[in-house]
Amino acid sequence: MKKRIFSGAQPTGSLHIGNYLGALKNWVALQDEYEAFYCIVNLHAITLPQDPKTLRQKTLDLARIYLAAGVDPEKSTIFIQSDVPEHAELTWVLSCITRMGELERMTQFKDKGKENTERAGVGLFTYPVLMAADILLYQTDLVPVGQDQKQHLELTRDLAERFNRDFGETFKIPEPYIPKAGASIKSLQDPSKKMSKSDDNPNGSIFLLDDADAITKKIKRAVTDSGTDITFDESRPAITNLLTIYQLLTGKSREDCVEHFAGKGYGHFKAELAEAAVEFLRPFQERVNEYDDASLNTILKNGAEKASAVAAFTLDQVYKRTGIK
Ligand code: AMP
Ligand code: TRP
Repeated sequence: MKKRIFSGAQPTGSLHIGNYLGALKNWVALQDEYEAFYCIVNLHAITLPQDPKTLRQKTLDLARIYLAAGVDPEKSTIFIQSDVPEHAELTWVLSCITRMGELERMTQFKDKGKENTERAGVGLFTYPVLMAADILLYQTDLVPVGQDQKQHLELTRDLAERFNRDFGETFKIPEPYIPKAGASIKSLQDPSKKMSKSDDNPNGSIFLLDDADAITKKIKRAVTDSGTDITFDESRPAITNLLTIYQLLTGKSREDCVEHFAGKGYGHFKAELAEAAVEFLRPFQERVNEYDDASLNTILKNGAEKASAVAAFTLDQVYKRTGIK
């Protein structure tokens, strides 16, 4: 039997090249070897205020982005989280074994809610439990995500172990899959921060749907470090980030990238990087509108059916073990 993968992204903001290189690229690479479930996590999205019409539109747009990135609906199950109500149901059960202290330690909550934890939504606080439910419902072996999700994965493993210990073996303990290169692509404007959907400055991110002109301008404006060599060097995070993007987009080895730019300046490098990004994103953007609404809905409906079968089985066991059923 094939091992299982589960992963998801939130239908908020616009997906950027960090989302692609840190997560989606690996979803596509792993879908042959694993039985994969790729979810559009719309219930996570409302942990921050969303415009209802936009949210529904973005949910469908994100499905198109998964497909355009190369997630193949013949191989992988693509579905919308809210179409499988077991996600919300298991969240409740898991919330009851999650400790306040565990959630208080989550760095993403501290970052997003830091301005005012008194006023932050409770959903933002308990969001990692919903994420744990997503993963555990599918008896997942592997979760391909970027570095920012590592702590949530650790909590997921702790909750699964605690439940198994207290109620009997029920959940598989999932492993994170965090890529060596690309796990945390940085902002083009500030290499000390990750490229983020919620960044106020759009110049920090290359969005998957940016046109050639925007991509070229953003790369031209990207901050650089002192020194002129185009090399991977931890003490020069800006160039290391740009070179990592180049490496992952072109599929070249680190050594080849360094050799390729030896003796060349930033101007030359940035022009080539912009070209690589434009060339990479062009076919992707052409594929985004490949599916009409009807075919997209069929893919999502079939996905939800397949996901529901697995999720219902796990939830039933959870309810039996806990005495709910
Ligand atoms: P989100 O859009 O926040 O739902 O994230 C979707 C996926 O992209 C998750 O697996 C994140 O870990 C990953 N991700 C988000 N930002 C970055 C980044 N700057 N670099 C690498 N991976 C990222
Ligand atoms: N929390 C993740 C993010 O913000 C998205 C997500 C929700 C997820 N549920 C998941 C990722 C389950 C992997 C597995 O990026």
